[in-house]
Amino acid sequence: MAIRLGDEAPDFTADTTMGELSFHAWKGNSWAVLFSHPKDFTPVCTTELGRAAQLKPDFEKRNAKIIGLSVDPVESHRKWEADIKDVTGHAVNFPMIGDPDRKVAMLYDMIHPNASENFTVRSVFIIGPDHKVKLTLTYPASTGRNFDELLRVLDSLQLTAGYSVATPVDWKHGEDVIIVPAVSDEDAKKKFPKGFVAKKPYLRVTPQPNR
Ligand code: BEZ
Repeated sequence: MAIRLGDEAPDFTADTTMGELSFHAWKGNSWAVLFSHPKDFTPVCTTELGRAAQLKPDFEKRNAKIIGLSVDPVESHRKWEADIKDVTGHAVNFPMIGDPDRKVAMLYDMIHPNASENFTVRSVFIIGPDHKVKLTLTYPASTGRNFDELLRVLDSLQLTAGYSVATPVDWKHGEDVIIVPAVSDEDAKKKFPKGFVAKKPYLRVTPQPNR
């Protein structure tokens, strides 16, 4: 069954390149980014994993753990990791789930049979400290993802979890944000002491409150 925003992220136990783990226990009260790859030793995935490894410190700064998956076994992932380091200059520094029996792929609906019967699509799940799914993305095998976008979404998710704001199109950390319509002007004056500009009665903009 499809996993929807707000659902509890299914727990699982799996073999990974860093040993067996239970997902919820491994994640603890961090954020987590779980992403799937169609197959080992494929070109787009190779570039994605190198970039993910490069950005791991940026995920850590946001209290987020990253974990990849493909339906190949862990021994295959380990051999592939040498190529990833060779090509991208970045050693894979996070666990890669081996899922040859597709247990996790099926649990997370990562196989879309009309796209490919055998391989996972490029799924991304961002999961909050409460184990609830906060974002899902699905890309086809032919399109590599943008891992900077995942960091940007994490910034938005973490900000909007703590304040009554939403982030506008193309927002980046540090830019102005939108006060959610449920907050009255009167309350907005108290909650956002830096003030706000009402471009329309329903579109009120304020400086990012946690800076
Ligand atoms: C890739 O990662 O390069 C890839 C995987 C499956 C199909 C096409 C490309």
